[in-house]
This record gives sequence, C-alpha cells and structure tokens, in this order.
Amino acid sequence: MRKIKAIHYGVGAMSHMIVPYMLEKGVDVVGAIGRVSNIGKDLGDVVGLGRDLGVKVSNNAEEVLSEQEADIVIITIASFVEQIYDQIKLCVENGKNVATICEEALSPWWTSPHLTSKIDKLAKDNGVTVTGTGYQDVFWANIISLLSGGCHHIDAINGLAMYNVDDYGPEVARSHGVGLTINEFNREEEKQEIPSFMIMCVESICSAIGWTIKELIQANEPTTSKMDLYAKSLDIEIPAGNATGRKEVVEAVTNTGVKFRVELAGKVYDPDEADINKWSILGLPNIELENIKPPTDVSTCASIVNRIPDIINAEPGYVTIENLPYLKYRPYPLHFYLK
Ligand SMILES: NC(=O)c1ccc[n+]([C@@H]2O[C@H](COP(=O)([O-])OP(=O)(O)OC[C@H]3O[C@@H](n4cnc5c(N)ncnc54)[C@H](OP(=O)(O)O)[C@@H]3O)[C@@H](O)[C@H]2O)c1
Repeated sequence: MRKIKAIHYGVGAMSHMIVPYMLEKGVDVVGAIGRVSNIGKDLGDVVGLGRDLGVKVSNNAEEVLSEQEADIVIITIASFVEQIYDQIKLCVENGKNVATICEEALSPWWTSPHLTSKIDKLAKDNGVTVTGTGYQDVFWANIISLLSGGCHHIDAINGLAMYNVDDYGPEVARSHGVGLTINEFNREEEKQEIPSFMIMCVESICSAIGWTIKELIQANEPTTSKMDLYAKSLDIEIPAGNATGRKEVVEAVTNTGVKFRVELAGKVYDPDEADINKWSILGLPNIELENIKPPTDVSTCASIVNRIPDIINAEPGYVTIENLPYLKYRPYPLHFYLK
C-alpha cells in the first residue's frame, strides 16, 4: 500500500504542528511552499523537528506543484477564499487535492458563491477535491449537527466561542485588528466588511440539517482590555483601551423559522482568560454543550490531518464537511483509510 504524499503550502505557525502530525500519521511530506520567510531552509528545521526532511521551502509554487507528485496540498496561508483562490487554482490545475484551514473555506457558498463555484468546476474538471476544515469542523459545526439528532424539535441554536489570536501567527492577529486604536479599528471595519467565521459554521450546520438560511446579519465590535497587553504574534504592546481583537455576533433565521445567535471573539487574552466553546440547542429537549478550555490550535491541526483520507476519498469538486463522513480520530497511518 502506497503512503500518502503531501505538500505544505504556507509555512507559518500552524505548519509547526501540521507537518509533524502528518509525519507521525505516515504521510510523506514531499514539498513546502513559502512566501518570504524560511525560503531555502529545510522544512524539518523550520517546523522544529530537530532533523532535516530533505524538503527545502520554495517560493516557486508553480515549480513545486508541477514537478512534485503529491496526493494533497495543505494550504495554511490566509482566512478568506479570495486570498487563496490563485493558490487553490494552481494546486487543482496540477491535479492535487486541497485541504485548507482557511476559515471561510469551511462553507463559502453564502459569502463567496462566485469563487466557490469556479473552484468547484475547476476541481471537477481536474478530478480532485477541495475542502475547508480545521477547528470548526468538529467544535463549531459537526458537534452541533450531531447533537441536533437528539432533538424532536428545535426553535433556536445559540453559540459562544472565544480563541486567543496569540496562539496563531501574525496573519491572524492582523486580520483581527489587534493593536489598532478604536478609531482605526472602526475605519478598517468601514473599509471592508469582514465576514465572521461563524457565518460559515451556521451555513454548515444548516446544510447538514437541511435548513436554508433566510436572513443573516452580523455585527462587529473591537474587544479591549483595561490593562496594557503584549501581543506575542505581532511583537507589539497594545495600550489599554486599544483593540485586542474583534467580537462578532451573527444572527440568522432559517426557512423554518429557527433562530441562530452566535457570538465569536478572537483576541489577545487578559491573564485570566481561556478559550470558550458553549452551545445550546433550544427545543425539545434543550441541550447544553460546553468544552472546558478547548485546545483550539492543536485541534485545528489534528482535524486537518485526520481529514486527509476523507478528502482524497471524496468525489471531485468543492466538497464541504457535511458531505464528508463525520471526522474521526485516525489511530493508524492515513493511507490505511484510502478506498
Ligand atoms: N480553520 C481553523 O481552525 C484555523 C485555525 C488556525 C488558523 N487558521 C488560519 O490559517 C491561516 C494560517 O495561520 P497561521 O497561524 O499558520 O498563520 P501565520 O503564522 O501567519 O502563517 C501564514 C504563513 O503563510 C505564508 N503565506 C502567506 N501568503 C502566502 C503565499 N501567497 N504563498 C506562500 N506562503 C504564504 C506566510 O509566509 P510569510 O511568513 O513569508 O509571510 C506565513 O508563513 C490564518 O489565516 C488563520 O486564520 C485557521
């Protein structure tokens, strides 16, 4: 049985866990694509393996993707589909399946229908699958649709989640407005309406259950602290009162009148704060779920690695997680799960 071959695209904070996890699950990591940092260095050295992998980080994506045979490319460069469209296109045109932790990619039909249908067509034409996964796959989507199966009737679904932007690289902190004054934050918000990562999760839960979204609104505000905080990922001091990140509230109504209200904050934490994941389904019966201090960053990386066989096994096209098997722990080398 042949081992799975993977290329890692975007050698940032998450690659430091994803690459070792892939290797530990029997995946051959055969290529690494970066932008500015670490070009020419060995990937094993960059992700802290303590040994060389014989894979140099390259900034020539065309060369790596056209010359290197691989089953799948793991893309960890940005949060929105528009930012990774060209990279997905290049992977797909070179016959590679794609798994990404780009948050919007989890379920981008509501927010980026045009680009998603273009990717879907490209993937079908090239016989490969593109899927967005990560922490949300289990904790903000599948866990809720699974719990819904224990209900006879549902009136509303409420969620509350929080993560520390400092567990990730600078890309994440910058996109959350970390360090900006409140005026700068509000000006940025006016310039571009950034869709909450929870929109894709509401969409995914609705699609899994068979609801369509009739109305959806989002409100954003900066999060702040009473004390000066150090933002590790940007290596800056955030003065008290400046933005430590962003809180988003997403409210949606389905075609059957079910109401969603989901609150999400991504911020640099005060010393006493920890990640939150709490959901309630209101109906018959009411169901409450709370994960105590969920390890968001580790689960992000474990999830994308566990998803690899599902994505390779899937039909070609843009395949969202509710159309894949429930995500499961993989105790054996990942090629054991290939059909
Ligand atoms: N779905 C989830 O559960 C989840 C969880 C965590 C993170 N994420 C998302 O995943 C992304 C990566 O997170 P991270 O913490 O690893 O961020 P990061 O440390 O900032 O890493 C991003 C990396 O991507 C590279 N990059 C950016 N554009 C590139 C391009 N065009 N070609 C090649 N490389 C490129 C950057 O290279 P340079 O250093 O040279 O600029 C950087 O090394 C973020 O958008 C984050 O929001 C998702």
